Amino acid sequence: MTVRILKDEKAVARAVAARVIATLAATPAAVLGLPTGRTPVQLYARLRAAHAAGRVDFAQATTFNLDEFLGLPADHPASYRAFMETHLFGHVNLSRHRIHFLNGAAPDPVAECARYEAAIRRAGGIDLQILGIGANGHIGFNEPAAGLIGDSHLARLAPGTRRSNSDLFGGRVRAVPPNALSMGVGTILRSRAVVLVATGAGKADAIAATVEGLVTTRVPASLLQLHEAVEVVVDQAAAAGLTRR
Ligand code: PGA
Repeated sequence: MTVRILKDEKAVARAVAARVIATLAATPAAVLGLPTGRTPVQLYARLRAAHAAGRVDFAQATTFNLDEFLGLPADHPASYRAFMETHLFGHVNLSRHRIHFLNGAAPDPVAECARYEAAIRRAGGIDLQILGIGANGHIGFNEPAAGLIGDSHLARLAPGTRRSNSDLFGGRVRAVPPNALSMGVGTILRSRAVVLVATGAGKADAIAATVEGLVTTRVPASLLQLHEAVEVVVDQAAAAGLTRR
């Protein structure tokens, strides 16, 4: 893993946006894996601005999002798909048929996850996977557990994860769906390159465990130590627990 420690959230967003822009400049038909959450909000704002300024072209790009709540259709205002429409898809020239999402309202979640894995394979795999990280070390909805499922799957959300998503549901934790569909850690590790992004003191313990701790399914992001092309981009606050700088 390489670790880049930058001054603040703004510098992190700038650096990750630059990475996406450079990827698309070198490979216009790149396949991007994309996260939702608070962390990438500034990243997507920068990508929207770069697109408006003619500095990035998504015309040939393909995207696969990491996860979606189970039971929410794409047009539900709290869905991750709606988040992506608001923050990125509605503002850039991505071709609609190259935007891929796990369908939270699919009647058969197992078949839906198999469809998603097949679609990723058909696209040639993910070139650049951008990830956030939960305070508990989760990536996607791969929560800490004795064992993890490799491929995309139906996942149960940890209580803290439901709490941290409650903003999307008017602050009502109980309104947050208890289950989701998520890429698995295997899906993520098959990406050719990964950028893990974290900002704020609330992520400091998770980042320390991910970068300097044991490889363990109790910290799902620590499995990224097994990948040869992972860049961790963090601000000073999220880097506070790192001892090797
Ligand atoms: P956050 O979520 O960006 O809202 O902190 C990250 C995650 O849980 O993966």
